[in-house]
This record gives sequence, C-alpha cells and structure tokens, in this order.
Amino acid sequence: MRESNVVGVLTAGGDCPGLNAVIRAVVTRATERHDAEVVGILNGWEGLMEGRTRPLDRDAVRGILARGGTILGTSRMDPYVHGDGYESVRRTVESNDIGPVVVIGGDGTLRSALRLAEEGLKVVGVPKTIDNDIGATDWTFGFDTALEIATEAIDRITTTAESHNRIMLVEVMGRTKGWIATYAGMAGGADAILIPEVPYDLEAVAKVIRGRHRRGHAYSVVVVAEGIEPPAGVQAREGTTDAFGFKRLGGVAYQIAPILEDLTGFETRVTVLGHLQRGGTPTAFDRVLGTRMGVAAADLAAAGASGVMVAARGARIVPVPLAEAVTDIRGVDHETFDMAATFFG
Ligand code: F6P
Repeated sequence: MRESNVVGVLTAGGDCPGLNAVIRAVVTRATERHDAEVVGILNGWEGLMEGRTRPLDRDAVRGILARGGTILGTSRMDPYVHGDGYESVRRTVESNDIGPVVVIGGDGTLRSALRLAEEGLKVVGVPKTIDNDIGATDWTFGFDTALEIATEAIDRITTTAESHNRIMLVEVMGRTKGWIATYAGMAGGADAILIPEVPYDLEAVAKVIRGRHRRGHAYSVVVVAEGIEPPAGVQAREGTTDAFGFKRLGGVAYQIAPILEDLTGFETRVTVLGHLQRGGTPTAFDRVLGTRMGVAAADLAAAGASGVMVAARGARIVPVPLAEAVTDIRGVDHETFDMAATFFG
C-alpha cells in the first residue's frame, strides 16, 4: 500500500449540522499532532472523481465550528454509480499524493467507502446523518440538532393547536427509521407517533384522540415519520430515487390527514418540516460529537488504519469495521418506542 502523509477529507451525501466541526477537527488534529498535510476534496465523491481539491490548513478551518452545511460542499455522485470504482478516483488520489481519505457520510457513502477500501484506497469513515440510523454507533452527529429543531416546531405547533381544536400532524425526516419522530415526539409530548418500525392503525389513533378531546383537551399533536407506509388502501406517492437508490420521501402526512379528519370529525392540518431540520447552526452536543469523531478519525488515519469507521459507544469514540456499520441500519427499538407510547393521548 502507498505511504503518504497527505490526508484527504470529503463530505458526501446530504449535508448535516456538524460537518464543519468534523472537517475542522480532522484538519487541526492531522496538521498539529501528526504533522500531516490535508487536502479537502470538493463536492464529495464528485471532487475525488473529477480532481477538484483544495489544500486545508489550520487557518482554512478557523471560524467554521458553529456553521451549518459543509465548507467542502457535497453531492450525491458516487464512484460506483457514476464511475468504475477505484479507477475513477485513482488520478486525483495519485496526483495529490493522497494517502488515507477521511470520508464523512451516511450509509450510502460509507458503503462506497468500504468498496474503495477493498480496492486498496485507505479509508476512515465518519458516520453522518440526522437520521441516527447508522449501525455500530450509538449516535450520529446532526441528530441532536434535527431533534432540537423538530421539538421546537412541535412546541410552537402545540400552542396554535390549543387555540383551534385541531389535530396537527408534524412530519419529520428520518428516512426509513423513526429516531427523529420518536425522540421529538417524546420531547414535545406528542399524542401519537407513527414510525416505520411499528405498524400503525389509524382507527386506534383516532380513538385515542377522540378520548382525549372528550376529556376536555381540545387539540392533538401527532408526529409522523416521513418513512411510514401510506395508510392501508392508499397508493404510495409517486417518487424519485437519489444516486444511492434511496427513495425520496416526504408528504405521507398529507395522506394520513383526511383519514384522521374523517375518523375524528376534527379539522386536521399538516406541517412538513423537511430540510429545516438539516439547516442552521449545530447544537453544542453535535459540535462536540463531530469534533471528537474528527479527532479520532485523524488519529486512525495517522496510525495507518483503513476500512474502519469511528463510532460513539457509550461515552467513548472507538473504531469499528466499516463492514459492520453498513450492514446494520439501526431502527428504533421496541423498549424506547414503548416508553414514548406511554404518554400517548
Ligand atoms: O438522510 C438524511 C435525510 O435528510 C433524510 O432524513 C431525508 O429523507 C433525506 O436525507 C432527504 O434527502 P435530500 O436532501 O436529497 O432530499
């Protein structure tokens, strides 16, 4: 394997609050502690395939810790979908004398990173997603920020709902998993939470809501995860897929609303939070988690590790095999959802 003290860093897939914290940490740790040089790869895999890079030193990453998005840019381009794997990145790697590449991404990106590692590129992964669904890690940075935003939205929607005798559906992101919905619903005191991991029954939800209104609570808030199946008998919405083959989601709450309105007789309104959940400044927790993961990734890169991902396990950041992380997409466990369900109605 080629030896080089030039570390590449890229952010790929959807953006996520905390990416800049990771970039800052990788660059600072690699240059200050490991005497390495860092090359920033622009627009995710696209930059590695097309040779778009910029040198990064400590000064280049000052002042970005609290900034949302990514200073490197990102894309959903993929070397295995839009190219022929390692061959399509070889020129950029060799002409920049890049040794290890720190790949900051979600499960699609990390899957491609694993394949590149198998083809000989040195790769250290950092798990990124607001969805919190990457296997082998307890937390991903970005989740806490999305949770904060969704919770604040539920709090605000609750006060307007109270004034109108309405049912409010708040649809949150999370792709095929219900972490944001479950945690935001728990934090916001939702009267029902619908997530992909747990089959739902709108008759049962309506019964809970009717009971609640009968007891004098004249509004209800239901949190809907974007990835739930459409209600029984309703056709799935037409949708497109992204470069990784993931279906683009959003809007299922609009299919739920008329059914709940019919079943309860209460006006039912929908708010889809969408990309609001990914924008803006990261929370302190995400800045710290991103920083810790970035530092750990730079240390692993300097130590010559490859095919690994940094993971939060309990209070520690540890290396885990990338293969383990990408085969296990983590859903909400029954115990956690049951805790949230205790407070329904
Ligand atoms: O994976 C993060 C995420 O925000 C999902 O929660 C959501 O379904 C998806 O990305 C949206 O992707 P895009 O920004 O490409 O529409």
